[in-house]
Amino acid sequence: MPNYTAPPSFDVLIIGSGAAGLSAALRLPPETSVLLLSKSSINAGSTPWAQGGIAAALGGIEDIEQHIQDTIRAGNDLPDAAVVRRVVQAGAEQIDWLLSLGMPFSGESNQLHLTREGGHGARRVAHAADHTGRTLMETLLDAVQARPNITVQEHHIAVDLITSHKLGATNEPNRCLGAYVLDLTSDTVNTLRADHVILATGGAAKAYLYTTNPDGSTGDGIAMGWRAGCRVANMEFMQFHPTCLFEPRAKSFLISEAVRGEGGVLLLPDGTRFMQNYHPDAELAPRDVVARAIDSEMKRLGIDCVYLDISFKGAEFIEKHFPMIQARCLQYGYDMTTQPLPVVPAAHYTCGGIMVDEHGKTDLGGLYALGETSHTGLHGANRLASNSLLECLVYGQAAAEFIASQLTAAYLPSPLALAVPDWDDSQVTDADEAVIVTHNWDELRRAMWDYVGIVRTTKRLQRAAHRIALLRREIQDYYAHFRVSNNLIELRNLVDVAELIVRAALNRHESRGLHFTRDFPESDPAQAQLNTICTPQPANLCSEAPVVQPVTPWNEPLDESSKLKTKI
Ligand code: FAD
Ligand code: SIN
Repeated sequence: MPNYTAPPSFDVLIIGSGAAGLSAALRLPPETSVLLLSKSSINAGSTPWAQGGIAAALGGIEDIEQHIQDTIRAGNDLPDAAVVRRVVQAGAEQIDWLLSLGMPFSGESNQLHLTREGGHGARRVAHAADHTGRTLMETLLDAVQARPNITVQEHHIAVDLITSHKLGATNEPNRCLGAYVLDLTSDTVNTLRADHVILATGGAAKAYLYTTNPDGSTGDGIAMGWRAGCRVANMEFMQFHPTCLFEPRAKSFLISEAVRGEGGVLLLPDGTRFMQNYHPDAELAPRDVVARAIDSEMKRLGIDCVYLDISFKGAEFIEKHFPMIQARCLQYGYDMTTQPLPVVPAAHYTCGGIMVDEHGKTDLGGLYALGETSHTGLHGANRLASNSLLECLVYGQAAAEFIASQLTAAYLPSPLALAVPDWDDSQVTDADEAVIVTHNWDELRRAMWDYVGIVRTTKRLQRAAHRIALLRREIQDYYAHFRVSNNLIELRNLVDVAELIVRAALNRHESRGLHFTRDFPESDPAQAQLNTICTPQPANLCSEAPVVQPVTPWNEPLDESSKLKTKI
C-alpha cells in the first residue's frame, strides 16, 4: 500500500525559473502562494545566456505591422497570424514593465538603443549590450526577492506530474494536481500539491551533440506534459543557430546574431563572402537560411568552420556593443577587434512544444506551459530572432492573469486531490552502473546530430527512430529498476523528446523552415498551415492536423515504468 501524507500545497507551482517562470510568478497577485522550482541554481536555464535582446515593435503601428510580417515570413507562413499579432502588439507593454522593474536597457529609457538581427526588416531589438539575458534575470530576481508570497527552491527537479487520471479518477476530465519532485540536496522525492501547475522548463536542444544551450535544456517539461496526456506540436522544427564559436574549450559559445545585425559578415577561409549567393538579405537572412548555407559551404569545401568578421568596425565600437562576447573570445585567444572568428551552427531553440491556448493553458486542467516548453503558434517553422524572450514575457503575463481569475473563483480541490500517494521507491534499488546512463546520453545526442540535423533524409530519420527506440527501451528499463537521479530523469525526458522530434520530422513530407529533407526538398503550399501534432494515449499518434491522412503509429506504448515507483 502506498503511504498518504498531507503534501505541501500551493496555489501555484511553477517548474522553472527562467524568463517564463519568473515573469509568471511576478504577474500573479501578491496574495497567491507560489512555489518556484529550479533543478539547478536559480540562475540556470537559457535565459541568462541570452545575448541579442528582446524583439519589440516600439515604433508605432507601422513597426507593429512589419514585425508581424517579419515573424510570419521567418516562420515560413506557418505561424498562427492571430497569435503573432497578439504577441507583437504586447511588445511595448512588456518593455515598459521591465523598465518599471528597473531593467537597464542600452540607451535611454525614453530612447532605447535598438539593434538588428536576421529576418528583421528594421532595428527592433531592445537589449542590454550583449548580455540581455543576464541583466533580465537580475532584474526579475530582484523583483522576486521583494515578493514574500514566492518561495524559491533551487536544486529541486520535477520527475513527473500527478494527474487525476493517474490516480484512477478517469470518469472526470483529467486534471493536474501537482508533481513529484526530487530534492537533489537530500535525494528524497517529495510530493507537491498545487491547484495550478506551470511548466516553464525551457527547451530541448541538449538532444543534440553540439548546442548553444546550457546543460539543463533537456526538454523536461515537454516530456512530462506529454506523458501526462498533453498534445505536442511541431517538434521537427529544431532551430540551429548559425554562429557558435568553433572552439571545443568554449563548449559552443554563441556569437550573437546582433554581430551580423551591426554589420558583421560571414567569410570562407579564403576571405570571400558567400551569403549573397543564398538570399537577397545575405547575412541578415532568417536563421534557418543562414545555418543551412553555412552547412552547405562546409560540406562543399570540406571545411571545419566558416568565419564571422566585424573587426572593420573598430575596437571602440566592438567593445561598446559586444563587451561580453569580446571578453569570452579573448579567453580563448580570439580578438574580434582584429580578426574574424571561426564559427559553426549548433542546436539552439525548440520551436515546437506543449500545445497551449492564448492563456498558456494545456490540454490538461490546471496545467500551463510557458516559454520554450510551449507551442503557442508564434514561431511556425522557424523562430524570428529575439522573439523568444518576448513570448516568455507575454505568456507569463497571460497565464498569471488567467490563473488569478480562477483563484478568485474559489477553486475547490476535490477530496481526491488531497489524497495523493507519496512517491514509492520500495521496489527499486540504487543504480549498479551509472556509467550506462552516461553512455546512453552520448549515444542519443550523437544519433540526433548525425541523423536529425540541419539536412535530413527519410532514411536517416528512420535510422534515428530505430536507434532511439532501442535506447528508449534501455532507459525505461533502467528507470523502472533503479532510484532516480538528476542524470536519469533528464535522460528519460530527452529520449522522449528525441522520439517526438524524429516522429514529427518523418511525418512532414515537405521542406519548410528548419525542417529540410532531401526527399521532399520543396515547400508544399498545401501544408503551409499544417502543424504536426503528436497526440498521446490512447491514440498515441503523430499526425498532421487538420488534414486527414494515414498516420504513423508509434512503435511502442508510452512509458509505463513510472507505475513501479508511484503505484499510480
Ligand atoms: P529557461 O530560461 O531555459 O529556464 C528553464 C528553467 O527550468 C531553469 O530554471 C531550469 O533549472 C528549470 N528546469 C528545467 N527542467 C526542470 C525540472 N525538471 N524541474 C525543475 N526545474 C527545471 N532569445 C531571445 O529572445 N533573445 C536572445 O537574445 C536570445 N539569445 C539566446 C542566447 C543563447 C546562448 C541561448 C541558449 C538562447 C537564447 N535565446 C534568446 C533563447 C531564449 O534565451 C530562451 O528561449 C528563453 O530564455 C527560454 O526561457 P524559459 O523561461 O522558457 O526557459
Ligand atoms: C542571438 O543573440 O543571436 C540569439 C538571439 C535569439 O536566439 O533570439
